[in-house]
Amino acid sequence: MNAVDTAIHVAAKSIRLADVTKAYGKVNVIPSLDIEFRSGEFTVILGPSGCGKSTLLQMIAGLERVTNGKILFGGKEVQDLEPKQRGCAMVFQNYALYPHMTVAENMSYSLKVAGMTKPERQARVKIVAGMLGLGDYLDRKPGQLSGGQRQRVAIGRAIIREPGVLLFDEPLSNLDAQLRHDTRIELADLHRRIGATTVFVTHDQVEAMTLADRILILNKGQVEQFDTPKAIYHRPASVFVAKFIGSPPMNILPAQGDGSVLRLSDGQVVGEYGLKGDFQLGIRPENVVVEQGMSGGLAAPVRFREDLGSHSIISVDIAGTPVRIATPFGGVVPDYTRLAVTFPMKALHLFDGQTGKAIPEGFGVASKDGK
Ligand SMILES: Nc1ncnc2c1ncn2[C@@H]1O[C@H](COP(=O)(O)OP(=O)(O)OP(=O)(O)O)[C@@H](O)[C@H]1O
Ligand SMILES: [Mg+2]
Repeated sequence: MNAVDTAIHVAAKSIRLADVTKAYGKVNVIPSLDIEFRSGEFTVILGPSGCGKSTLLQMIAGLERVTNGKILFGGKEVQDLEPKQRGCAMVFQNYALYPHMTVAENMSYSLKVAGMTKPERQARVKIVAGMLGLGDYLDRKPGQLSGGQRQRVAIGRAIIREPGVLLFDEPLSNLDAQLRHDTRIELADLHRRIGATTVFVTHDQVEAMTLADRILILNKGQVEQFDTPKAIYHRPASVFVAKFIGSPPMNILPAQGDGSVLRLSDGQVVGEYGLKGDFQLGIRPENVVVEQGMSGGLAAPVRFREDLGSHSIISVDIAGTPVRIATPFGGVVPDYTRLAVTFPMKALHLFDGQTGKAIPEGFGVASKDGK
């Protein structure tokens, strides 16, 4: 090995939360979580505001204590360790850089505190700055950088310590759309190169779909679904997940089965179905089929139409429920005030009317991911 090692070496560790709970006083933010992020895996956490995403990251990082339960990195308990003893690094939405230090000093500060020699620190700064395209900015202070550059410094500061666990709390939220897109691709590339176990919180479902090996959907501190992006999109475990993913999200309509057909609340028949009971019927906007001519199918008075360039979104009412239909731009949808549509059986999702949980024997379950 060289006297000065110039590569970033990460020993990725699995993260396990074993029956972890978190309460702030009487407020039970996380009732009980038992999950594992696999070694080297990129997990994205999605969930509504206040569901406990930041709290979860902070407990992993050691910035918040667990109320009960254990956290294990690579099988070793860390819940009682100080943040700096855990071998993990966190990147925040607001960058949290030291304003009086240069880019190089910001990135290498933790190495200095850890007692690393100056030549070693400089070598590490050089390689990390090279990875993040910050080579020309090393002598600048954060105030002399753009938002995107500051965020890269924050990322550099995190990875320079070679953390086995890398945590991101909405790191791209302050960037404009183009920069967000570019940084997202760089992050994916960075992950491939350094391989740290990564947990990434976002509100952006495109980030979730494109970056994640698995997506964890949290609802009130509990797991709604923890699965691959493909499974989350094609086989949502609940109405909550179905409505959370997809833009526009899945349409959900109340429906009733009488043992032979499934009807909407106004009595219109969707199709044949053998189960009895109250259901919630789901169909993605891109799966609704607009019939040519106004006869046949389900009656769908048009409320409005948005042309987005690549495609159009048509908002209609079906059995009194707002439904959105996505159609290719310049497609065949006539400019009627009333359409007739059908819901192809293989594209339908069926959820329990009361609990909202997916019904395994619902329509077309096996064919939804194209298999
Ligand atoms: N220090 C605290 N004391 C009391 N309650 C807190 C504290 N920190 C967070 N909470 C509460 O815990 C819940 C979860 O907060 P958290 O910050 O984890 O949410 P989040 O999912 O990250 O939300 P957002 O998407 O808005 O960032 C919220 O109801 C919040 O008000
Ligand atoms: Mg948060």
